[in-house]
Amino acid sequence: MAQARKKKTAKKEKVIIFDTTLRDGEQAPGASLTSEEKLEVAHQLELLGVNVLEAGFPIASPDDFYAVKLIASRMKKSAVCALARCKDEDINAARDSLKKAKHPRIHVFLATSKIHLKYKFKKAEEEILELAVRAVRRARKFCPDIEFSPEDATRSDREFLYRVIEAAIDSGARTINIPDTVGYSYPQEIQALIEDIFSHVPNIGKAVISIHCHNDLGLATANSLSAVLAGARQIHCTLNGIGERAGNASLEELVMAMKVRRKAFRGVYTDINTKEIYRASRLVSTLTGFMVPPNKAIVGRNAFRHESGIHQDAILKKRSTYEIMNPRDIGIGKSQLVLGKHSGRHALLQRLKDLGFVLDKTKGERVFSRFKALADKKKQIFDDDLIALVEEEIRKKKKICSLVSVQVTTGTDIPPEAKVKIKYKGKVHEARSGGDGPVDACYKAIDKITKVRPKLLSYKLDAVTRGKDAQGMVRVEVQYKNKTIRGQGASTDVLEASVKAYLDTLNKILS
Ligand code: KIV
Ligand code: ZN
Repeated sequence: MAQARKKKTAKKEKVIIFDTTLRDGEQAPGASLTSEEKLEVAHQLELLGVNVLEAGFPIASPDDFYAVKLIASRMKKSAVCALARCKDEDINAARDSLKKAKHPRIHVFLATSKIHLKYKFKKAEEEILELAVRAVRRARKFCPDIEFSPEDATRSDREFLYRVIEAAIDSGARTINIPDTVGYSYPQEIQALIEDIFSHVPNIGKAVISIHCHNDLGLATANSLSAVLAGARQIHCTLNGIGERAGNASLEELVMAMKVRRKAFRGVYTDINTKEIYRASRLVSTLTGFMVPPNKAIVGRNAFRHESGIHQDAILKKRSTYEIMNPRDIGIGKSQLVLGKHSGRHALLQRLKDLGFVLDKTKGERVFSRFKALADKKKQIFDDDLIALVEEEIRKKKKICSLVSVQVTTGTDIPPEAKVKIKYKGKVHEARSGGDGPVDACYKAIDKITKVRPKLLSYKLDAVTRGKDAQGMVRVEVQYKNKTIRGQGASTDVLEASVKAYLDTLNKILS
């Protein structure tokens, strides 16, 4: 009887969602966000229902510090976490950045694997153990909620790992996070590791076990779920799986796997409002410039599309023949023909609301006038067109340079020549240039004005929707002072979209 009751309780266990989009996710090359953009993502994460939101690594730079501080002062429900190495200055910065947080958490980390000890620290195990204890104790003085991560745990010597974990808990850590820092492990190994930690660390009952997986072998989601099967009750993850190198475990995959296959995962649940997933994914993709691959599970454009006639037919008869989730459960509405030239403000705002965008009056007005301008050029306006408009509006606030006009002459027998007018630092400037093609000519003309001259690494043009009059979405990647910066721009004119995308990167560089 007692056994049966125990089993029943276990079924209702919650898995804490620790989102690190703004810390590990932002460490993805080229993903850098401004503090305001981070705040926008943080608001969406709170709406999504993440329990803990890792807002950054305050010691890394004054910008990081400011972003954590800003987010800490605004979040009402989600705990706000700041990362720190086992150094006094890191812990102090984390403490200071979290002063206004309702629910602060300090996340202290220190590598425990032999390879890190030998090459990164040149320290012996005992010294590492001491550093960890000291740091956790120090952090605990400032904040009751301390998380400790033995970095590279999956490649660490087991006995040493158990000792560090035990000491960290004794020193006041409430959560022990197990990172697969280099994405080296596989599901059975992770499951065994977590089970072993439960059976070998005497005081483990005083802490929540967490998992942090990287995706170097494409196993981050599977590994994290294996940890849940072994009893981990917190998962570190990011939206769209962005993060260092191949990224982190993806929030949307984990949450939906546990929801769709709840019984298989011991009946655990999360607090995530899955209907906010799609919107959150779009926001992160828009602001970071990282496109979601069309075949990405849960949030990819094709995730709920059925091409084969046999599938389409079966779906019409019974949805579950080929769909294991309802797209509406993650907040994807039908992409339908929505509006046209004669649609009014109310219809537009209502449709945007259905798509998950609640705009204030000023933003609503601006999107409406953009919508009217687009409707003059394009008869049929789809949901994706509207999303592109709103995304442009979201990105707009940090414009130091913006497009006034662009004119290009080009042809099979004449070299391209661009005349570009941009508003730059409050004044309108004009420049002309030739180039290796019309886009190159435009970019060279802009370079003459701003003198920033980033190096173009990649250029990609996609249609936002179908039809010959579809808007073009240009995404570019540039390099500036060893940093990769992404930008995007949409328009029915692909040259205009190309210029907007380039200016988007310049705005990021200049701000
Ligand atoms: O991958 C990692 O080990 C980390 C730690 C800071 C937790 O990101
Ligand atoms: Zn990581």
